[in-house]
Amino acid sequence: TRVPPPKNEPVLSYAPGTSERRELQAALKRMSGEQVDIPVIIGGKHIRTGKTDTVRMPHNHQHVLATLHEADASHVEQAIQSALSVKEEWARMPFQSRAAIFLRAAELLASRYRPIMNAATMLGQSKTAHQAEIDATCEAVDFLRYNVHFAEQILGWQPEAAHQTWNMTDYRPLDGFVFAVAPFNFTAIALNLATAPAIMGNVVLFKPSSTSALSAWYIMELLREAGLPDGVINMLPGDGPTVGNPVLASPHLGGIHFTGSTPTFNTMWRTVGENISRYKQYPRIVGETGGKDFIVAHPSAADDLEALAVAIVRGGFEYQGQKCSAASRVFIPESLWPKLKPRLQALISEVRMGDVSDFSNFMGAVIDEKSFKKVSSYIDLAKSDSGASIVAGGDVDRKQGWFVKPTLVQLDSPTHRILREEIFAPLVGLNVYPDAKFEETLREVDQAAAYALTGAVFARDRKAIDTALRELRHAAGNFYINDKPTGAVVGQQPFGGGRASGTNDKAGSALNMVRWTSPRTIKETF
Ligand code: SER
Repeated sequence: TRVPPPKNEPVLSYAPGTSERRELQAALKRMSGEQVDIPVIIGGKHIRTGKTDTVRMPHNHQHVLATLHEADASHVEQAIQSALSVKEEWARMPFQSRAAIFLRAAELLASRYRPIMNAATMLGQSKTAHQAEIDATCEAVDFLRYNVHFAEQILGWQPEAAHQTWNMTDYRPLDGFVFAVAPFNFTAIALNLATAPAIMGNVVLFKPSSTSALSAWYIMELLREAGLPDGVINMLPGDGPTVGNPVLASPHLGGIHFTGSTPTFNTMWRTVGENISRYKQYPRIVGETGGKDFIVAHPSAADDLEALAVAIVRGGFEYQGQKCSAASRVFIPESLWPKLKPRLQALISEVRMGDVSDFSNFMGAVIDEKSFKKVSSYIDLAKSDSGASIVAGGDVDRKQGWFVKPTLVQLDSPTHRILREEIFAPLVGLNVYPDAKFEETLREVDQAAAYALTGAVFARDRKAIDTALRELRHAAGNFYINDKPTGAVVGQQPFGGGRASGTNDKAGSALNMVRWTSPRTIKETF
């Protein structure tokens, strides 16, 4: 049986008068008026641990959306036992049956769950309707459909037969469980981290980010409704080390599927190193971490200034700059700056920011107080540093929500801290370079930051594009030519980067899915 050929889920417009808009508004209203009690989920059982945290709207931080029950070491132990107890049955289930569960989840998400997942992502993570639609619905549906398709392709990768022998590869799941650790910023990423290993027959311990626990809860509801057996994916919200340390100390750790910060991933990797002799197997470690994603313009982009300006504003400020792929350092040749600067200032001053339930807003709030304080300190630095000047924005307002105006800062030095450090907020650093120093600038872009996730070059001149491709070969795992560096589409632009940005196992591709297998080669001689 072949799985249905995947196609990308179309992005709905949510224009006034559309049915999707009405349904989403109804879901927003309902969810704003209720307070969900989010449990720890082990073997399908809902456990209310009593140790709770609150989930709030970032753009209205007094509004509590949910109470979150946190897991501790005893729940981790229970979850491991539960996962291991269903492991064999899950692994032996025919692929077609397993696949059907995730394909059903995709169809449910594209229909009845669409307004629910989008509303949870808007309210809990402060995404606009469009940003929620391309994440919590379209990308999430795409991950499910494409990963099933990639899994089927992998099962078909078989060795040659030879005279008197018969060879085959048995794509076993990993020996143990997979620990999926999700960030707050993408509902689709959380869903992919937990489901990709499960599609390949693995059992999973899923630790969502507490700040995005509302959408994580609905992911679990969606999968339950789609028919996922109890115990295959267990949800353990809570404090990072409290949950993570006992997980990483388990002899049954088979793999880690992580998206989050570089320091957290480094800590986990170190912990794995310390525990290495306890494990029954070497755990697979797959991680996507930080970024300091660039846009470099060449003087030949002069005729495309509008596209460049839009790419900087959309790439830098959509979802408040909190995409791992967000453009956060920009390099502009002197000859383009006099025209580009006022255009950027005009575009940025038109940006509407506020409550995401108001569909005319282009930006919501940053995720929490910690993030607000971090970006505020960089804005203060930009204001006090003689080598920095604020081109646009620079204001913050914490009264109702964690609001940070889209801020563009010009830096005299191409290696200023603001051009090297990940800030993960709507603050874009920009350096103006002499036109003759394009190649030198590329080398600085390559060397200045430790990260290598995404990047973009804007140029008409083909030689300049080729030079950028060559000089920046290892500076980005996803490289864009004349486009913003965000918005990778599953099946079209497999996503991930190297250096301090992760293991580059390309989410949304067969390269990622194959990591969740431990192939057994079988030879039979006749
Ligand atoms: N995949 C997202 C993007 O490309 C980021 O994680 O924007």
